[in-house]
Amino acid sequence: MLFFRDQELSPAAQAAFGARFGDLDVYPFMQALDEHPNVIPIIKEPEAKLNFGGGWHTDTSYLECPPMATLLYAVEVPEEGGDTLFADAAAAWDDLSAGMRATLEGLAGIYSPKIVHGPDGAYADMAAKEQSSSARGGEAQSTEAESEVEHPLIRTHPETHRKSIYCSKYHTDRIKGWTREESLPILEFLMQHMTREQYVTRFRWRRGSLAMWDNRRLFHHALNDYQGQRRHMHRVIVRGDRPR
Ligand code: SIN
Repeated sequence: MLFFRDQELSPAAQAAFGARFGDLDVYPFMQALDEHPNVIPIIKEPEAKLNFGGGWHTDTSYLECPPMATLLYAVEVPEEGGDTLFADAAAAWDDLSAGMRATLEGLAGIYSPKIVHGPDGAYADMAAKEQSSSARGGEAQSTEAESEVEHPLIRTHPETHRKSIYCSKYHTDRIKGWTREESLPILEFLMQHMTREQYVTRFRWRRGSLAMWDNRRLFHHALNDYQGQRRHMHRVIVRGDRPR
């Protein structure tokens, strides 16, 4: 992950910077800015209760080819709170026992946006209820929210060839061939393990901060500890390959 302070980035400038690293992707579940199709606003209004990204995840791991990188820019930040935590899923993988690693390496997961974007998902009625995000509704989005894709639970980084934990209870519906109920204890254990203090970095935003991270190896979690204040970010994602 890379952090840059005190930037003045228009949506076009943020997108142009992201495009130096690869093709930009379009996020299917949020309305992009009118002025740029690859920049989505992530806004929590003072009256909203839920925040976007408030659970450990990598961005859109439920897509066939999830983004390789995310660039997040702080337009407006609360006076206090609203930090983002990042966890190193490769270091966490390295520290698992040989027995656990051998078991996990043979397993695939069924990943789906339905856990968060489906009719019963956390974000299902965020836009309607709170008007705090630009979450999209409509039939196309609800069909897309039910989609499923198979990825390994443990992926190998295409450039460094390091292995890392890739599954999470928010994007992985179940281990392939298992029920969700059977899968959850494993998913929960891995998340708990990966988010131990030694693997986690906390970033405190200031207006004009830009964070850029490798979405194939890092998990992140947006803290929701700034009730009554506004937080406004712009997000750009760079297209990645199919996890292997
Ligand atoms: C996200 O998960 O994409 C948003 C993270 C944040 O707002 O800190």
